[in-house]
Amino acid sequence: MNLFISKLGCSLIFQIIQAGLLKKGLCSVQDESAGLVVSVVDPQPGETIIDCCAAPGGKTHYMASHLSGQVVENSYKETAKLHQVDGIIIAIHADLRTLPDSGQLKSNKVLLDAPCSGLGVLSKRVDLRWNRNLEDMEQLKEFQDELLDAASKLVKPGGVLVYSSCSIDPEENDDRVFLVTHPDFHIDPVDRYVPPDFVTSSGFFFSNPVKHSVDGSFAAHLVRDLLNEFPGSNSLWLYPQLRDIQIQ
Ligand SMILES: C[S@@+](CC[C@H](N)C(=O)[O-])C[C@H]1O[C@@H](n2cnc3c(N)ncnc32)[C@H](O)[C@@H]1O
Repeated sequence: MNLFISKLGCSLIFQIIQAGLLKKGLCSVQDESAGLVVSVVDPQPGETIIDCCAAPGGKTHYMASHLSGQVVENSYKETAKLHQVDGIIIAIHADLRTLPDSGQLKSNKVLLDAPCSGLGVLSKRVDLRWNRNLEDMEQLKEFQDELLDAASKLVKPGGVLVYSSCSIDPEENDDRVFLVTHPDFHIDPVDRYVPPDFVTSSGFFFSNPVKHSVDGSFAAHLVRDLLNEFPGSNSLWLYPQLRDIQIQ
């Protein structure tokens, strides 16, 4: 069960805790900003979504609750069962940067929720304030670019890549969106998926902890051009399979 706290009254939250739903794993807690990133992915029944950096799996489980499909492996099995999304998630343990090499795995929807500085979640991770330096940030940005490049190779022509982070630093967000290096992608404004207050002038999703009273998050909805790779054979790629895949 996926519930968002801002939508619930305090008394309902209290009832959920008292009923032991959290303890039993029947309910999980996520910040609303994480849910809004999933809204940008816009999971639909029957779709295949590759969740590139899935661990610990919060967004995967929420997306899976919108889908229908196949098998769960490994440690997510129990949680997935409790959330009634077992049979939907396939877990692949791999370094994303080496995954596209096989050329086998491709989807119409790919989420890259990239490792980041966590500057959007400082209210929950105060330790991050003291554990970052400029050198780390440079390495992190290079890493994000490598992951973004790898994730882009998993997107079928006409498909969508959502790049997200829980940072409020534009260098990890807008600046990473790779349209110069990947001209076969373009920005699809997110105003169809989230309330207008969360849409930037560039068409990205951005939540600001001060303005919106939720964690800071960013998401770009990027669409790969349809005709670049397989002119004349689009229909082959437009119909997704019944799977939701996470890569940790
Ligand atoms: C921001 S977290 C993802 C949070 C997750 N989407 C959720 O909602 O629970 C980024 C994750 O990327 C994973 N990661 C780091 N390097 C990776 C790599 N080379 N390939 C795949 N995953 C990686 C880390 O394990 C980390 O948990």
